[in-house]
Amino acid sequence: MFKTHHNNALNESHVGQTVRLTGWVAKRRNFGALVFIDLRDREGITQIVINEHLAESVKDVRSEYLLNVEGEVALRKDPNPKLSTGQIEVIASSVTIVNTAEQTPLLIQDDTDALEDTRMKYRYLDLRRPIMQQRLMQRAKIVRTMRNFLDDHGFIDVETPMLTKSTPEGSREYLVPSRVHPGQFYALAQSPQIFKQLLMVAGFERYYQVARCFRDEDLRADRQLDFTQVDIEASFLSEEEFRALIEAMVSEVMTKVLHREVTLPFKTLSFHDAMHFYGSDKPDTRFDLKLQDVSSIFKSSAFAVFQNALSYSDGLIKALVFPNGAAMSRKETDALTEVAKKNGAKGLVVLKVVNATLEGSAVKFFTPEEISGLINALSLKDQDLVLMTADRFEKACNALGAVRLALRDQFKLADSEVFNFLWVVDFPLFEYDEDNQRFVARHHPFTRPKAEHVHLLRTDPGKVFACAYDLVLNGFEVAGGSMRIYDQSVQQAMFEVIGFTKEQIAQRFGFFIDAFKYGTPPHGGIAFGLDRFAMVLTQSDSIRDVIAFPKNASARCPLTDAPTPVDAKQTDELHLQIK
Ligand code: AMO
Repeated sequence: MFKTHHNNALNESHVGQTVRLTGWVAKRRNFGALVFIDLRDREGITQIVINEHLAESVKDVRSEYLLNVEGEVALRKDPNPKLSTGQIEVIASSVTIVNTAEQTPLLIQDDTDALEDTRMKYRYLDLRRPIMQQRLMQRAKIVRTMRNFLDDHGFIDVETPMLTKSTPEGSREYLVPSRVHPGQFYALAQSPQIFKQLLMVAGFERYYQVARCFRDEDLRADRQLDFTQVDIEASFLSEEEFRALIEAMVSEVMTKVLHREVTLPFKTLSFHDAMHFYGSDKPDTRFDLKLQDVSSIFKSSAFAVFQNALSYSDGLIKALVFPNGAAMSRKETDALTEVAKKNGAKGLVVLKVVNATLEGSAVKFFTPEEISGLINALSLKDQDLVLMTADRFEKACNALGAVRLALRDQFKLADSEVFNFLWVVDFPLFEYDEDNQRFVARHHPFTRPKAEHVHLLRTDPGKVFACAYDLVLNGFEVAGGSMRIYDQSVQQAMFEVIGFTKEQIAQRFGFFIDAFKYGTPPHGGIAFGLDRFAMVLTQSDSIRDVIAFPKNASARCPLTDAPTPVDAKQTDELHLQIK
């Protein structure tokens, strides 16, 4: 027998009992003839005392040896309040070395300065660090709570294919060559979207799946190539009913996993207001610092940057006031300008309020009326910092929103103990793709337009809003969904607006459109990015910290070395030739 208890389990009530523990050596200390060992397993640490008569059996033992110990629980003379087992220790009566360990390339402890690639190469050791184990156990609890909730509410767990048809709409796909059909390819599912809708057509009414999804995207701190969605779809519910159900599920996750109450219903913010006030479609509302529109002050500005922006129908000038920020150095404000540029702005206007007037390189283009207008409109005070962008609506807002987040990170403006859930709604159905001069679906082409806008679909698509909703938590989009089109003619119109010919529609989505002929129920759904949700709930900095075996920032797996070249024999079999 390996263990009677986990290494977090023993306390004063066990004193005098004989127990057996198994674990890895977290720390070894010698005190004269005595040896103290901190024995670690996934649950915690227990101190083992090895008396002189057993010293020989542990003489070679060092960190990460795996030991099996039998002994008696005794009260400690010097309790350790930091450990759940800190009141006791186990006086060993026998010690067996189950396995030896070489010196590990990284220290097995919560704080680490190991490079991320080292952590990933030796991921099985990195995952031995208690904090990593806790994160993955929290993640398991989150998904268990979601599953239990969905099971209890009549949702049926159905699996859908990972090898599916290529539908190059949305993010870039991974293609899988078919061996038996030369020159033909499957695509790895980006999401189960089409299949879950077909399950609604099939009459399942309520479905869910913990689904792996694959997207060939550029990686970021909150993105992976293969990631997991908790994918949900329901028929015969209004948007309000469906969202209330999702809120109840999230609330259950918060109470069961984090032991926190959340206030229901969640706040909602329109896409427009989210962009307008926070400069993001996934605003972090844990801190205020709102963007303001100062376009009206600069209507006849001599400043070319402002003039250009206002020449667009949706052009505007946005300002963000950072109280007492005037003390920031040139280097710091330059860094903010870089952030704005990286996020699509041509530049960032930086102004400081000094002695009741404005300083900054752009001030020479302002009239005295504009200066006083700005001071009044923004209620500026001495030593305030004012940051401004000027561009088309989304660009100006996005860039200044990114600056807002940079200030959050630099000055710790957001309370990391707060979890702010928020629905973002009233999204435009389409987004204009400047490069290709056409409309594209902002979510996906199955999203239902608002009933009152359906008549504008073909005539003024830019004005059509979607029955779509994103669930945002602390500045991350943790879930996204919508009510779906269930009317064949609306679906047809949708495809036409995004520029598909009848032939393309038939070729790519024919099977899907066909299904709509047979009594499709009204339906809608959502998908949680499980990894992202777990990242925010465990207060991790990166999505990679809640995934056991992730890819690194350059889309590689340092553990297995994937992707790797393959033998010519394999490519031959797949009828492929590498250019
Ligand atoms: P969407 O594309 O918004 O919607 O994805 C849903 C959620 O999945 C997460 N997510 C990701 N997480 C990690 N890495 C990625 N590369 C990644 N991409 C997305 C996000 C996002 O909110 N079929 C629709 C859902 C629906 O309409 O029901 C869909 O896939 O948290």
